[in-house]
Amino acid sequence: MHELISNFPLKASNTFGIDASAKHYLKIDSSSELIHFFKNNRFLLEEDRLFLGAGSNLLFLKDYDGLIIHPSISGISVVKDEKNEVEVACGAGISWDYFVSWCVENGLQGAENLSLIPGNIGAVPVQNIGAYGTEASSIISEVIGVDMNNLEEISLNHNNCEFGYRTSLFKEKLKESFMVTSVVFKLSKLHNYKIQYEGLKDRINILGGINLQNIRKAVIAIRQSKLPDPAEFGNAGSFFKNPVITKAEAQTLKNMNPDIPLYPVDSGNVKVAAGWLIDKAGWKGKSLGRASIHSKQALVIINSGGATGEEIFRLSEVVAQDVFKKFKITLEREVQII
Ligand code: EPU
Repeated sequence: MHELISNFPLKASNTFGIDASAKHYLKIDSSSELIHFFKNNRFLLEEDRLFLGAGSNLLFLKDYDGLIIHPSISGISVVKDEKNEVEVACGAGISWDYFVSWCVENGLQGAENLSLIPGNIGAVPVQNIGAYGTEASSIISEVIGVDMNNLEEISLNHNNCEFGYRTSLFKEKLKESFMVTSVVFKLSKLHNYKIQYEGLKDRINILGGINLQNIRKAVIAIRQSKLPDPAEFGNAGSFFKNPVITKAEAQTLKNMNPDIPLYPVDSGNVKVAAGWLIDKAGWKGKSLGRASIHSKQALVIINSGGATGEEIFRLSEVVAQDVFKKFKITLEREVQII
C-alpha cells in the first residue's frame, strides 16, 4: 500500500522537531510498489525529491517544495548462514537500533558498537553511520535500491559503495537518483570485539565482562550520558564532522593546546575533535535564540524549544566562524541542510 499526501506536516518526521511541511509526501512499503507507483505517476519524478527515513540527520530551513519519499519497508531475513558468518537482509524502514538489538540477541557480532544511533536502515549506508571505533561500512556487504532514472532495482556490493567518513556514493553521486530499499549486513559468529574507545572497556568491566550484551549496554550508557534525547530536546546528533587536517597543522595546534584530541587518519593527516574545538572556543551550553550548544557534548546543537531551522542554522554559522577565527579550521556540517 502506498500513501500520497499533499501539504504534509514534517514536525514529527525530523528529530530537530522543525515545524515545516512538504508539498508532497509518499510512503511506500516495497520496491515493487515504488516502481509501480512512479510508472503510473511519472509527473512526480519531475519534482525535487528527498528520501526521508527517521529524519535524524537533517535540518529543514523552510517548507520542502517537492516530493518526500518515505520507505516503510520492513523485514529482517537471514540470506546466508555459514560456519563463522551470517548475512542478513534488512528493509530500509526498520529502525537501526532495533536491528542492532536483534543482532545482539542472536549472538551476531558487528553492529553492537553502533547501539542507540537514531535513524532507519535506509540511511545507514548513505551516511555510513559510525561511533565508538566502528563504521557501518565494515559490516555492509550489499546495498539494494531503486534507480530513479529508469525505475529498476539494482544492487551494489560493498566495493562499489564508495564509503568514507560519514559519506558514500548514495550521499554524493547518487544523491537523488538512488533510493535504498534494503541493506545486507555481514555479521560474525566469532566475536572480534572493538572496545578500544576511551572509557568503553571500563564500563564493560563494571557490567561484568566482555560480551555482546555488555558492549551494547555500555555504549548505550555512554551515549545517554553525553547525547541529548531527541524526545526531550530536538537534535540530530553531531552537527559537524570532525575535520581532517594535515599533520603539520595538527602539530602547530598541539604546541598551543597540548590537550587537543587528535586521531590518526593516514600518513599525512589527522582528525581533530570538533566538539573539543567548539568547547574550547567557549560555546558549550551557550544559546542564540532558541538554539543551543548542548551542555554535555559541544558537537550537538539542540532545539531548546520551538526553534526554526533558520535559528539552528544561524547558531551553526556563528559557531563555525568563531572556531575558524580561533583555530583557522573550517568546520563542515554533518547534518544535511534542506
Ligand atoms: N570533547 C570535548 N568537549 C566536548 C565534546 C568533546 O572536549 O564538548 C572532546 C572529548 O573529551 C573527546 C573528544 O572531544 O576527547 C571526542 O569526543 P567524543 O568521544 O564525544 O566524540 P566526537 O568525536 O565528538 C564522534 C562522532 C559521534 C560518535 C562519537 C563516539 C562525529 C562527527 N561524531 O563524536 O557520532 O558517537 O564520536 O564515537 O564523527 C553522530 O555522528 O551524530 C555522532 C554522535
